[in-house]
Amino acid sequence: MTLAILSALPEEQAGLSELLSDSVQTTHAGRRFVSGLIHDQPVVLALSGIGKVAAATTATALIERFGAQRIVFTGVAGGLGSSVQVGDVVLGTHYVQHDMDASPLFPRFEVPLYGAGNFAANVDLVAALSIASHAHFQMTSDRFDFKNRIKNRAGQGAVHHGLIASGDRFVSSAREAQTLCAALPDALCVEMEGAAVAQVCHDYAIPFAAMRTISDRADDNAHVDFPAFVRDVAGPQALSILRLWLQAHFNPSPVNA
Ligand code: ADE
Repeated sequence: MTLAILSALPEEQAGLSELLSDSVQTTHAGRRFVSGLIHDQPVVLALSGIGKVAAATTATALIERFGAQRIVFTGVAGGLGSSVQVGDVVLGTHYVQHDMDASPLFPRFEVPLYGAGNFAANVDLVAALSIASHAHFQMTSDRFDFKNRIKNRAGQGAVHHGLIASGDRFVSSAREAQTLCAALPDALCVEMEGAAVAQVCHDYAIPFAAMRTISDRADDNAHVDFPAFVRDVAGPQALSILRLWLQAHFNPSPVNA
């Protein structure tokens, strides 16, 4: 059962590749894939690329060429829901392409001929990533202070579950964020790849889940300090959560008889 971990952030992939034993690098479709073992189980790592098409191509290569049978995606996103703050984790239970609009032929947001406006994540993967995210926040008291742009000890980040909106736009104005919230009131955050990978996994009937660290509020300040946040906070946080999840996933504690 090969597990694929698809990262949006190179920092995070670098940390994960250190966990791999017997690793082999392959270049395919202009992308670097790193295969090996974690806890003696086959794992393949890849960078998603940015945007829906790049991520869909990477996901398809993972399945077709590297035999991925489950895909877990990690990266960053802009918070939309009022309670979704910088440093929090969002686990997508459903994914919508917010820039898909074939109306009036099909309802807005519906991917034509799929008969649905969103794609669901695998509930077991989401539940397991949720446990790992809570465990991570219990272990660390650092939280990113958005106003002062530093890590401080203001308390634990929150873990949210719900709808993630994906589209080929970096949302960086309060007006655009408000328009998105009005159109998709349930959306917790916005990013640029998740719904595309969810669609590919739906087509291949492969379990999928994605975890996003909130890097900004998708407003006029969204781009400020983005690279520093990704390097210093989001990358290490995603790595910590994945390590906890991998430990539990591949070494489940024995059930007492
Ligand atoms: N990823 C992180 N922040 C984002 C934003 N504001 N818009 C789209 N993708 C993002």
